[in-house]
Amino acid sequence: MHEHSSPLAAEGRAVRLDSFGGPEVLDVRETLALQAGPGQVRVRVTAAGLNPMDWFMTADADTAARFGLSLPCGFGTDYAGVVDQVGKGVTAFALGDRVFGGALSRAVADIVVIDSAGETAANEVHHTPDGVDDRTAATLTIAGRTAAAALAVVRPGPGDTVLIGGAAGGVGVFAVQLARIAGARVIGTGSADSADFLSALGAEPVTYGDGLADRVRALAPGGVTAAIDLHGTDTVHTARDLGVPDSRICTIAGQVDGVQAANGANADPGTLEEIARLVAAGELRVPIAATFPIEQIRHAVELQAGRHVKGKLVIDL
Ligand SMILES: NC(=O)c1ccc[n+]([C@@H]2O[C@H](COP(=O)([O-])OP(=O)(O)OC[C@H]3O[C@@H](n4cnc5c(N)ncnc54)[C@H](OP(=O)(O)O)[C@@H]3O)[C@@H](O)[C@H]2O)c1
Repeated sequence: MHEHSSPLAAEGRAVRLDSFGGPEVLDVRETLALQAGPGQVRVRVTAAGLNPMDWFMTADADTAARFGLSLPCGFGTDYAGVVDQVGKGVTAFALGDRVFGGALSRAVADIVVIDSAGETAANEVHHTPDGVDDRTAATLTIAGRTAAAALAVVRPGPGDTVLIGGAAGGVGVFAVQLARIAGARVIGTGSADSADFLSALGAEPVTYGDGLADRVRALAPGGVTAAIDLHGTDTVHTARDLGVPDSRICTIAGQVDGVQAANGANADPGTLEEIARLVAAGELRVPIAATFPIEQIRHAVELQAGRHVKGKLVIDL
């Protein structure tokens, strides 16, 4: 119904891999023209947010195959931009709409094509509300939805004290603020260097590592009632030591028998729209630690793989 094409050239740059591996296999190439087919929209990408999943998926051929990736392969999943071509049958989006979403392992590119009815981070598009800038919109899909899925397991509310492990990372910044919005007290683990950052998000900082349970006891003599582990399994075990029942512990980055693993793919429908609404309303903010041009993709991925980024990294396009 709204089949249109802008005069923008569809060719553009994209990160391409000719083999799976570390940051050294990430190259920037000119790509062939992409066209929106029936039911699809073409997006001129302005920003792409990075997640550990991006380089985890493309690190080796077996892992890539599990995610359905084959060579030559693109890179990155979270994107934001502007619709610049609308395929036949698409009514929900029009030329010029600001959008964000997921494009599995092909988002760090000038142009992506998305199924407008897609509902997973592999292939989805949402309207970007006024009041949400593109860089921020490009951070929401995976981390926001994963944090919401983790919160849905432990359901924090007023009266709860929630221990969040790995609270300063990409998922952590959402989890801390969503738990605070839900009315809970939040204790967040980080390095000593992250203490001020965590306080500014609304968490009470505590350093991870040996003695964590004692430090949490000192901060919360009344006890911890729920826990979310966003880094590995240390926070799960600490929560058990502190007497938190398994039913109120969740992990996203490890496996512990008896403890539910949350996955962003299982977040409630409407989660992303609600998170974007909170950002637009000024109730939730996404700290962006650094932005990079596409030519610096290797450097950006190396930085994130160091696992001490506070908040999110974004590639500008
Ligand atoms: N299941 C899912 O659906 C799903 C979705 C997204 C992500 N994940 C996984 O969840 C994990 C977190 O993702 P992310 O995007 O938040 O990663 P991230 O942004 O790379 O996390 C970086 C953060 O990890 C913290 N950290 C480093 N060592 C730590 C330790 N020993 N204990 C606690 N925190 C530590 C760092 O804090 P300091 O700088 O203060 O050390 C830093 O703020 C990753 O393993 C990712 O693959 C799973």
